[in-house]
Amino acid sequence: MAVGVPADITTTCDSQLTTEPWHIDRQQGYGPGASTDDVAPPTTPHQGPIPPEYTQASESELDARITAAKATLGDRLKILGHFYQRDEIVKYADFVGDSFMLAQAAKDHPEAEAFVFCGVHFMAETADILSQNHQSVILPNLAAGCSMADMATIDQVEEAWEQLTTVLGTSDDDQAELIPVTYMNSSAAIKAFCGRNGGIVCTSSNAATVLEWAFERGKRVIFFPDQHLGRNTAKAMGMTEEQMPLWRPYLPLGGNTQQQLIDAKVILWNGFCSVHKRFTVAQINKARADFDNVQVIVHPECPAPVVEAADGVGSTEYIRKAIEAGKPGDVFAVGTEINLVNRLQAQHPEMTIFCLDPVVCPCSTMYRIHPAYLAWVLEALVAGQIPNQISVEPTVAADAEVALERMLAARP
Ligand code: 13P
Ligand code: SF4
Repeated sequence: MAVGVPADITTTCDSQLTTEPWHIDRQQGYGPGASTDDVAPPTTPHQGPIPPEYTQASESELDARITAAKATLGDRLKILGHFYQRDEIVKYADFVGDSFMLAQAAKDHPEAEAFVFCGVHFMAETADILSQNHQSVILPNLAAGCSMADMATIDQVEEAWEQLTTVLGTSDDDQAELIPVTYMNSSAAIKAFCGRNGGIVCTSSNAATVLEWAFERGKRVIFFPDQHLGRNTAKAMGMTEEQMPLWRPYLPLGGNTQQQLIDAKVILWNGFCSVHKRFTVAQINKARADFDNVQVIVHPECPAPVVEAADGVGSTEYIRKAIEAGKPGDVFAVGTEINLVNRLQAQHPEMTIFCLDPVVCPCSTMYRIHPAYLAWVLEALVAGQIPNQISVEPTVAADAEVALERMLAARP
């Protein structure tokens, strides 16, 4: 059994997830588990082999080596860890948070020389954009991508924009015809596209604020790449399904008529998260049948019927805070990634906290960050090297920063 998989759990979406990630890093794609149905673009980064002294080390040896390297690097290093990381990684993190908090942490620590980002590729890119030139950002395993982020490529986005601006024309008043909004879970190139075209970035913690920002400046929004976050947010703001056509990038006009696009308020890109699309209303009904007092909280990447049947919806930090505010005896059924749910249950034995999905399904790309990779990058830093650096091309970074800064400045 690999580290990170609780001993009492034998059912996973794919038994290969119980092996160490270097066995799957060689395969094309996102690896076994949650994202097996997703097709990884050929440009998806691969992780090369790391020396056997790391892959064959015991958990205690890796622990000793990580602890020693971290102590040597001291304040020159900040380890950032997303909530979905395994406990074996989270325990070394200087900051643990949702994608918004970790982006802010990278911006707020100019004293660090290096950020080791225990998360996925788009998060490390964002940290590189928001940090300063003398700082480097390192992703311990280059295969830690995000299948949802890969569902919108910059070429597809530019093609969609060209078609849409032809249909919608240019505005003759001070409201733009179309504002591009991208979820944080997207490439730096798409964030830069938004920066260049009067648009903005959002995360799951500020999507409503960001859509309000957009509607102060434009008549419609195109929202990349997560249709569910876009739909759930727009619905909560009073928009109807008819006002939210889906853009399928391989079809002319995204599979819509000109009139549907003219009548649209939010054009939703056809992307989704394979982890969160597993949650269903049937699971919520079962949780309610099993526990009278259950509170159901889900992430907004879940499909709309699931969000509507839940008691609360919000980012990973929202979920953490909702449970922190609970009292002994409370029962929470949670619709998000299993590592966060298991950690919350371990931190709150006085409550019952379980995942809505009875089958353990980690984010298979977050899972790629294993202590062996962390030990490898930290020891390389101690030796004066910068392994696995994530470096966004400066012109892309400058435009992406415009869109990110608009998000950081947008307040409810
Ligand atoms: P948060 O912004 O809530 O951390 O979510 C990021 C993510 O990838 C969820 O799947
Ligand atoms: Fe991407 Fe989903 Fe993993 Fe989040 S949980 S990083 S959206 S694949």
